[in-house]
Amino acid sequence: MTTLTIQTPDDLHLHFRDGDILTETVAATARCFRRAIAMPNLVPPVTTAQSAIDYKKRIVEAVPEGKNFEPLMTLFLTNETTAQDIREAKSAGIPAAKLYPAGATTNSDAAVSSLDHLSPIFEVMAEEGMLLLIHGEVTSHDIDIFDREKVFIDRHLASIAESFPTLKIVFEHITTKDAVEFVLSSSQNMAATITPQHLLLNRNDLLVGGVHPHNYCLPVLKRNIHQQALREVVASGSEKFFLGTDSAPHEKHRKESACGCAGCYSAWSAIELYAQVFEELDCLDKLEGFASHYGADFYGMSRNPGTITLVKDSWQVPEEITLPNGNPIVPFFAGKTLQWKLVGS
Ligand code: NCD
Ligand code: ZN
Repeated sequence: MTTLTIQTPDDLHLHFRDGDILTETVAATARCFRRAIAMPNLVPPVTTAQSAIDYKKRIVEAVPEGKNFEPLMTLFLTNETTAQDIREAKSAGIPAAKLYPAGATTNSDAAVSSLDHLSPIFEVMAEEGMLLLIHGEVTSHDIDIFDREKVFIDRHLASIAESFPTLKIVFEHITTKDAVEFVLSSSQNMAATITPQHLLLNRNDLLVGGVHPHNYCLPVLKRNIHQQALREVVASGSEKFFLGTDSAPHEKHRKESACGCAGCYSAWSAIELYAQVFEELDCLDKLEGFASHYGADFYGMSRNPGTITLVKDSWQVPEEITLPNGNPIVPFFAGKTLQWKLVGS
């Protein structure tokens, strides 16, 4: 096969950031996606409908001329989130709210420190049909970083799903066999996103032969049996798993640092990275469902009009990109060769 045409895809989890970097991040995503779920972990976080509307406007202003792209906004849940906040967000067209356990990742200090407090909020979300997006990791110091996702399932996620059976939950950027099994064994209201880095890499790619800061993200890369489980489940074509890149830009000096930030900036090659994985797995026919159908269906949105076409044409991901502020950023898979290329980009 030398060309591949699929219905226009969506990226159901990513970070655009804010300010002048938007012209870079929004253009990179609008290159191949029609819609994207924009994460709310700005400083300060997006906690109200009004702040989400304002943020959406800034993103829309950064969409390149002639590109048809719509950001979908999310609300950042805190211990102070009220039922009113949820209702206002829902009526403003915001489809989802994001749960970060406090301290779990970049700019999450304002997040939820007690999940029990959120029960009334989850109830309203279920009533309103607003999706709950979860960064599923515990943050207690005594839990090993490689076990944080599994412990989150056992301590929190299983009981949230059981207590709120009508609440639609997206277990974001899953990284483990345990998460795959949990999602498969849960009701149809539980789904998950999977990133390109967790399909392409395992923790050896982070730690063998030196530390590779550009492969550092959260949840952290796991051992290869977990990578294998993620690859098998996307190859199975299960409708519970869909595309969310978690593209998360950090300037080069913040990644290559004594205390480097977590996040892989994958937007420059997002759809090509997934195509590479699906080809390796000999299941390119499953890419369209994963990238363009299952996420929209789970969110209750119409599937996108139109198509995109990839061609078999090897190209190299740039070593560096210059951001609008003049600083360099290293894209995910920098310097590596990909076999598929989006036509017209
Ligand atoms: C994300 C970021 O930098 O905002 N980082 C990451 O490693 N994925 C936050 C997140 O999604 O956890
Ligand atoms: Zn993220």
